[in-house]
Amino acid sequence: MKVLFAAGDPKPERWTKPIKTLLPEADVYVWDPNGPVVDADYAIVWQPPTALFEREKNLKAIFNLGAGVDGLMALPVLPPTLTVVRLEDAGMSAQMAEYVLHQLVEASRDMEAYREQQRQGTWKIHRPIRRNDWPVGIMGLGQIGQRVASTLAALDYPVNAWARGKHDLDGVHTYAGTGELGPFLSTTRVLVNTLPLTEATRDLIDYPLLSQLLPDAVVINVGRGESLVEEDLLRALDEGQVARASLDVFREEPLPADHPFWRHRGVTVTPHISARTLRESTIEQITGKIRAHAAGRPISGVVDRARGY
Ligand code: GLV
Repeated sequence: MKVLFAAGDPKPERWTKPIKTLLPEADVYVWDPNGPVVDADYAIVWQPPTALFEREKNLKAIFNLGAGVDGLMALPVLPPTLTVVRLEDAGMSAQMAEYVLHQLVEASRDMEAYREQQRQGTWKIHRPIRRNDWPVGIMGLGQIGQRVASTLAALDYPVNAWARGKHDLDGVHTYAGTGELGPFLSTTRVLVNTLPLTEATRDLIDYPLLSQLLPDAVVINVGRGESLVEEDLLRALDEGQVARASLDVFREEPLPADHPFWRHRGVTVTPHISARTLRESTIEQITGKIRAHAAGRPISGVVDRARGY
């Protein structure tokens, strides 16, 4: 079996060595645009070059080194019937849950004000938190959204969630489909986006949507930048409808130096780090799936090409 690694890591042996250890039956290659055609059975990719699909014509499946496959789906050269597998959790959902919790607590526990007080040498106690003042609404209930929801619910925040289809989740009120988006938004103050980017979710979070949130809203985007209309968020911030936003993903990454988000008082920016791909668990997951697929066993995480995730 031939496995091709094409993820643009300057040190690919960090990946290929443990892949060989866990999958001794495979010959493992690193993508080389000038090398011979490998005729690989499987490719492990992140933002792969289009030439890969022009040259490697016998791929049985490709494994994405991330949960979001929007970049892959946008490649016109991606063969329409090729099996695409996304990363499932692999340590990402815990990272996402703690990132979202951290951003929420910054707001709900007045952390910024206490930091400022420390700078001033001021000992002043603010009124205690009332959790009912901080109803959270999570968009997207994949593995990541579910972990965020259950983490916040376990800390007694009121948690609602909205997804395309109906879900049952302990302690979380769930809404489904476009028909229930309005009721979901009107009970949400802290909006968390964990949705995959598809045609249905592109530009979904716009001014009309933000206007339906409870007053002093908080927006936390850990999904994809293209789901958020950035100028609409700026308008909602400037009008006070949204009090603050924590953004980890952007329409253009790296975020351009002159982007207003960098310097906006109400905006916290992080460079797409809310959930990093963790090498060890990722390699373990992918090599296990390659072995299962090669043996004809079913694997999870296969992308529904029509749905886009
Ligand atoms: C990162 O953005 C991922 O899709 O895993």
